[in-house]
Amino acid sequence: MLKVSFGKPTRPRGSALVVFAFAGGKLLPAATALDRETGGALTRAAKGGRWNGKTGEVLPLIGLDLGEVSRVLVVGLGDSDGLDRAGLEKAGSAIARTLLPTGVATAAIHLDALGAKAPPPAEAAAAIAFGAAMRAYSFDTYRTRRKPEETPALASLAIGVEDAAGARKAWEGLVPLVEGIFFTRDLVSEPANILYPEEFVNRLRPLTKLGLTLEVLGEKEMRRLGMGALLGVAQGSVREPRLAVLVWNGGASGEAPLAVVGKGVCFDTGGISLKPPAGMEDMKWDMGGAGVVAGLMRTLAARKARANVVGVLGLVENMPDGNAQRPGDVVTAMDGQTIEVINTDAEGRLVLADAVTYVQQTYKPRAIVDLATLTGAIIISLGHEYAGLFSNDDGLAEALLAAGKAEGEGIWRMPMGEVFDRKLTSQIADMKNVGPREGGSITAAQFIKRFIKDGTPWAHLDIAGTVWINEARTLHEKGATGYGVRLLNRLVADGYEGGPASAPGRSGGGRKAAAARKTPAAARRRKRG
Ligand code: BES
Ligand code: MN
Ligand code: ZN
Repeated sequence: MLKVSFGKPTRPRGSALVVFAFAGGKLLPAATALDRETGGALTRAAKGGRWNGKTGEVLPLIGLDLGEVSRVLVVGLGDSDGLDRAGLEKAGSAIARTLLPTGVATAAIHLDALGAKAPPPAEAAAAIAFGAAMRAYSFDTYRTRRKPEETPALASLAIGVEDAAGARKAWEGLVPLVEGIFFTRDLVSEPANILYPEEFVNRLRPLTKLGLTLEVLGEKEMRRLGMGALLGVAQGSVREPRLAVLVWNGGASGEAPLAVVGKGVCFDTGGISLKPPAGMEDMKWDMGGAGVVAGLMRTLAARKARANVVGVLGLVENMPDGNAQRPGDVVTAMDGQTIEVINTDAEGRLVLADAVTYVQQTYKPRAIVDLATLTGAIIISLGHEYAGLFSNDDGLAEALLAAGKAEGEGIWRMPMGEVFDRKLTSQIADMKNVGPREGGSITAAQFIKRFIKDGTPWAHLDIAGTVWINEARTLHEKGATGYGVRLLNRLVADGYEGGPASAPGRSGGGRKAAAARKTPAAARRRKRG
């Protein structure tokens, strides 16, 4: 991660000096001063092209006589009236994007007060740093021969800002989020020969140092619990499945937790319903839901969130094999419902069925949010701009939509209903695992809903289109986005950390639920310490 410091404006050797302008090329005070110092170089450069100070629009100047400063960037902040956190993140991102290929190691950012309508300097500085850090992330684990001249050098931001102490505090408040997002991106980027269920669990172990408890179920335990749906998916792989549970108890003791459940298919070949070869490598990131749960739990623990949250990761590999499950097989899920597996490529919902059953029986959560790269159909519906939101609870859905809006992560509610549920009728079992092609994301959600106990607020996020994008955006390079960590971190902060008693599912706690939580699994946990 970029090293970020705050203080007086400086000019480190070899650094890029960054100053700002509003729309129309209106230079801010630091830029005006620099313009004077350089005999009008900034004004002249601005006149020499189309640069206009739009949000994130960069005017680069090189060859100025400024001692050992390597270059100047004048970064646009758009309309001064409309400048918000997202705009500042975009400006930060633009700084990183511009400097990454240049070999410049330090950006010396001179940030002025931005006016009454904009965020205060401390927050603005932190938002710029956030944008730059997010954009500068790259996954380089397997590059061994990169030439120095091809290696990004940008390593630090030295931000000169009025309220340096306040800015430092604001940035430190964001670091747990950035680290959580990067953890998710790392996991999502790993290839499936490296990151299989057991290794995924190994990557979770260091999180216990942050105060998270980690419980891991292996194949035997899952068999004992009757997780026939999850195990049916896993049986074609030589890699053993795992169910990992991360618990964060930062809230009132005895208060029912929020449960966050992630699909962790470490590779999805489709199984016997084998996928076509083109693009199959993408299925290494079919564990993206579990990746978000891991990153979120890390963020919550690192910032000591005052909430009880349990994260469940259903970790399997979906392979074709002599022992793989066949189309037409009938499996019995943990809650006793039987499923006719028409298509072995509709495996995510099978994994989630047992994962949500386990978390309900063991933790009596007040609400459940599951995340899954569940359907290609959601990409057809919403592209890469929105995750699909499906929910049985308007309060929880509204809270998620608000969190998405606040954090700039697209989320769009989709319909559900009996007419879709009916499509899951099986000739010989309680349900089949696929409906028709039409409305494929909706029937997938209906399938999961069948495993949610009546009265439990539940939301399903189909993140197939947002986990991985083959195109750089403001806050990420092409590849893993980390989508969802920010959204759910906001959901927890606004709805579950001593917020109003009206928060979604808040009534689900209390003494009765606490007593019910003392289940055999809870006793097992206590015994293991
Ligand atoms: N992991 C896939 C969904 C997916 C597709 C995620 C593309 C990301 C990009 C999921 O397991 C799957 O295969 N879904 C099937 C469901 C179908 C068989 C009903 C699909 O979407 O085609
Ligand atoms: Mn599949
Ligand atoms: Zn899948």
